[in-house]
Amino acid sequence: MLSREENELLTAVDNDTPMGRMLRRYWFAACLSEDLPQPGDDPIPLRLLGEDLVAYRDFSGAVGIMDRHCPHRGADLTLARAEDCGLRCVYHGWKIGTDGSILDTPNEPDFSRFKERISARSYPVEEHGGLIWVYMGPRDKVPPLPMLEWSFLDANQIVAHKVLVKCNWLQCLEGSIDSSHITYLHSDIIKSSPDGRTNTGQDFDPTRAQKTVEYLPSNDGHPRLHVEDTPYGFRYAAIRSVPEVEGRESNYVRTTLYIAPTITMIPDRPGFGTGPFYTPVDLTHTMMYVMRYRLGGPVDEEIVRSISGIRKGIDVEPDGTRARTPENHWLQDREAMRRGESWVGIPGIISGDTAIVESLGPIFDRSTENVGTADVAVVHARRLLLESLRISEAGGDPIGVGGEAIDYRALYPWEEVIPSDQSWQSHDPRAIRGIQERV
Ligand code: FES
Ligand SMILES: [Fe+2]
Repeated sequence: MLSREENELLTAVDNDTPMGRMLRRYWFAACLSEDLPQPGDDPIPLRLLGEDLVAYRDFSGAVGIMDRHCPHRGADLTLARAEDCGLRCVYHGWKIGTDGSILDTPNEPDFSRFKERISARSYPVEEHGGLIWVYMGPRDKVPPLPMLEWSFLDANQIVAHKVLVKCNWLQCLEGSIDSSHITYLHSDIIKSSPDGRTNTGQDFDPTRAQKTVEYLPSNDGHPRLHVEDTPYGFRYAAIRSVPEVEGRESNYVRTTLYIAPTITMIPDRPGFGTGPFYTPVDLTHTMMYVMRYRLGGPVDEEIVRSISGIRKGIDVEPDGTRARTPENHWLQDREAMRRGESWVGIPGIISGDTAIVESLGPIFDRSTENVGTADVAVVHARRLLLESLRISEAGGDPIGVGGEAIDYRALYPWEEVIPSDQSWQSHDPRAIRGIQERV
């Protein structure tokens, strides 16, 4: 539970708020590379951290992200023409470079030095892992890009998608670091194993890895959560008891990484990975990015999209808007629930996740909630963000930037059954993770 004031502090995104300033110390995904597939592509509108921007790819293939309105007299630059090394406004022909410099003012006299005194607001851009990243903070404090393991994979090993969620970014994030909901909300797809078979451990069959149902090796519905702070944020283990087999007690351990402020990494089947993370669009909208990837080979995009509920043109449009919205009650299928075919009546993991966080309202008031022991990681994330905010406002570096370098590529979550007398921190998951498949 948070006070109303803390809730307001944590959920903010605008540049004139403490959280808005802190968020601008990190890189965010601005859009997918496929949103701007070709050099010279038409500019597209973006809204990031409450700012209206335009993104385009010039003739050389470089991407620029800048203020949506022309620095001359405010024309909308989504109407502009992408050219060599810049974007040309169609109103009076001014040309703006990807770095915001004014390259040409053809309606001014030849001798004019006017353009040297002004510039457009533009932001540093990087392109990696099928995404275009943007940094909107102070130029003397640009941190390294979070190059997570999927950044190094071939395009056919990743399914990258974006989904627009109609609520504040913090409740989206809290959904991703909330392990106990998988046993309930996702029980149509992630089931407790009826026969002791698991999708982890030595008996893992990779040919089943892309099938639609995943079996958890435990039906323990109240996991114990252990949180461990790290330089990037924290990791936690959700520990579920496994029924005694041949006199041996064991635990099913599922770790999740929280990379501040909005990246999470969630366990997937051995050799696979899932990384949901979030870009605040504005106070009440969030773009969710989900990378589902396979370390050792191509993924079956059709199955991944079907499991997740993100089939192109059916569940989600190219701009991220979804067929299931609060207005149509997320098309919940009550008949399927009555027939016992579905727990929630909203098929697909991402469909369920996005519906449920939207159902909290545009900005959830956390002063009204009642958190329990299963919510330890969510509460920890809030504390960490509040502490980081205090440091940031005092002029220091928020968590994960400005300090020791972080080897993002080496970070990954895992899930496995381990003996109950072994600590999860001492377990080396690399073999079962399919580490040999890493590129
Ligand atoms: S408003 Fe863009 S060139 Fe004049
Ligand atoms: Fe979920």
